[in-house]
Amino acid sequence: MSGPNGMLYGGDEIGALVFDPGHHSLRVGYAQEDTPKADIPAVIGVGPATHIPDAEEKVPDGNVTQTATKKDELRYYIDVTELHVPRPGMEVQTYMKDGQIDNWDLFEKMLDYCYSKVIRSPSEHHPALFTEAVWTTRPAREKLAELLFEKYQAPAFFLVKNAVLAAFANGKSTALVVDAGASQTSAVPVIDGYALVSAAVRSQIGGDHLVTQAKNMLNNMHIQMVPIYSIQSKEVIRERERARYTLKTLPAGLTQSWQQYMLKRQYEDFVHCVAQVSEVAYDDRTAASVPGLHYEFPGGYHQDFGPERFKLTECLFEQSLGAPHLVCAAAGACDADARAALWGAVVACGGGACAAGWLERLAKELAGRAPSAHRLKTHAPPAPNERRFAAWIGGSILASIGSFQQMWISSQEYDEGGKGQLERKCP
Ligand SMILES: Nc1ncnc2c1ncn2[C@@H]1O[C@H](COP(=O)(O)OP(=O)(O)OP(=O)(O)O)[C@@H](O)[C@H]1O
Ligand SMILES: [Mg+2]
Repeated sequence: MSGPNGMLYGGDEIGALVFDPGHHSLRVGYAQEDTPKADIPAVIGVGPATHIPDAEEKVPDGNVTQTATKKDELRYYIDVTELHVPRPGMEVQTYMKDGQIDNWDLFEKMLDYCYSKVIRSPSEHHPALFTEAVWTTRPAREKLAELLFEKYQAPAFFLVKNAVLAAFANGKSTALVVDAGASQTSAVPVIDGYALVSAAVRSQIGGDHLVTQAKNMLNNMHIQMVPIYSIQSKEVIRERERARYTLKTLPAGLTQSWQQYMLKRQYEDFVHCVAQVSEVAYDDRTAASVPGLHYEFPGGYHQDFGPERFKLTECLFEQSLGAPHLVCAAAGACDADARAALWGAVVACGGGACAAGWLERLAKELAGRAPSAHRLKTHAPPAPNERRFAAWIGGSILASIGSFQQMWISSQEYDEGGKGQLERKCP
């Protein structure tokens, strides 16, 4: 189907792109594909443009070589391969704040990277569909449209609430979408393809909070998280024996923000491997009866984790901030005649929904709380990546259906109608 400016938007000729920005990562790829082409950490390394030689890389007289560059010039390091290299003076910064894009200069670096290194095709060839959180402010939405049309010369642009897309990805146009992200957990009612913003609720209890809990727990257990980048070699040791490793000589000047970011990734790995949600509220006896799970830390220390696995995740089901409470609050804020349909289609998505046992616990708690008049049904794709990428996948589906092609805001419409187009076409 042709767009207003004669370009073929859907179909094979011109590939529409789908961008799903979040606090943890940005998902980007072609519409019609099953998964995003890339899942890029939502942080950027910003460092001096000087070439910093490796410890061994020295000139014969022992002076360190340095390529002279203009002072104050900055380089941007994006995605894990670049970001995980220890570089003196490189600070790790994010462009996200409170669920929306906030640092536009940094976000532009990310988009440059997406077009040049991931998509490898000029931005002016691709309609761009962006997901957004329901709370995204008007200035942030307008700024994004302006950026895509004016700087990136996108032929067409569209914005859709991520909850709506997650519902679509589960084959629903009416659903109560509970999204367990990194920075927050939210519950958003979606009715006939529109998010009911006034009934949406959220709490700060998300994946990042779980990582902080894991950090505290390991500290209390006196288990040290040795930074992986600092380890030269380690010895094989027995379970619970003190780790024996040698450290590398690292370049001087590694920033706090980079070190903290790298450690956070390690704690995340621990959480993803070890955390388990208990089927019912935590109780010592039941937790103790479940076999432990073995985890080896980067420094070589290893042990079984038993009840701790369950204790760790209890915070996600906290009475007044956890996902079940949010679902009830969001449903309660909707018109009574919409509630039956919403309780019958609770859709779970986001990385946090991938934690082992999370969905089962949600279903169980909701069964105890849902009004008895309504039939409760929880949905989520079985594959973890499909849960985590639900909004992106919904965007991929939407941008490739024929009847959607007339919905895009074309660059011509933007030129004629300006930012007002946004409120009109993407409410
Ligand atoms: N298997 C897992 N178990 C527990 N947590 C997980 C698992 N997989 C991913 N996560 C967590 O999910 C979070 C990322 O989820 P997601 O990709 O939905 O976030 P986001 O959309 O980038 O962030 P936000 O929605 O806050 O803007 C991270 O905190 C990550 O640690
Ligand atoms: Mg998210």
